[in-house]
Amino acid sequence: PSNKFSKVSHLKPMLSLSNAFDKNDMEDFLKKVNNFLNIKNENLEFFSEPKIDGISATLIYENGVLKKGLSRGDGIIGEDILENLKTISSIPKKIIGRDLPKILEIRCEIYIGKKDFLNLKNKFANPRNAAGGSLRQKKSEDTAKIPLKYFAYGFGAVEPMIFKTQSDFFEKITNWNFITNPLIKIVSNLDEIEKQHTLLDEERSKLDYDIDGIVYKVNDFNLQKRLGNTSNSPGWA
Ligand code: IVH
Repeated sequence: PSNKFSKVSHLKPMLSLSNAFDKNDMEDFLKKVNNFLNIKNENLEFFSEPKIDGISATLIYENGVLKKGLSRGDGIIGEDILENLKTISSIPKKIIGRDLPKILEIRCEIYIGKKDFLNLKNKFANPRNAAGGSLRQKKSEDTAKIPLKYFAYGFGAVEPMIFKTQSDFFEKITNWNFITNPLIKIVSNLDEIEKQHTLLDEERSKLDYDIDGIVYKVNDFNLQKRLGNTSNSPGWA
């Protein structure tokens, strides 16, 4: 792995997530969101997604063509790892689709499948380290030898903004051939959140990738905007 990648400022910061460790924490989160939005709406929609335990990266498309690919870095400044990201065949290099935004920045998590990791076990401590090390190879030919995969989960800059909800975003980018996680669900109260948690907990060991939690996001982007971000995490997730 090399440290010699050029540094590039992110168009929008790549934030972290705040944690909820139990049902009480989750209840507090729901209350906070409802209070902030000043609604007593039992049916406020949350989009539930597995939190993939990999390495975050961001892909910038100009008029549908992949132009930049950055690592997260410190969240404000990333590193140019475009050539290495391009070796991942399932990442679209050119998006075929109608009504594409002029600028589309797709945030994703890069990982190595658990089965594929068995062949790399003596070189890296775990699949996450293997993915990180592979993305930081000096020569993209070396990255290309590693079977990296990804799930797209969000966006940075989008101009013009065409997405209304996280579910709309997932549907559109899936149609544009990005890989999105199938274990998604719209939930709208604590019971449904708990059910989804139990379900994913049961599925977890059968998956070919590691997950280190579930992300619950307010589905509506107008409401996300109102909830805003703190310095390092969004108030809507
Ligand atoms: S949403 C504004 N969704 O987790 C931040 N992040 O702790 C919103 N991650 O670096 C992030 N799976 O790379 C989101 N389904 C998912 C995710 C996910 C993995 C990573 C992400 C980020 C870290 C945040």
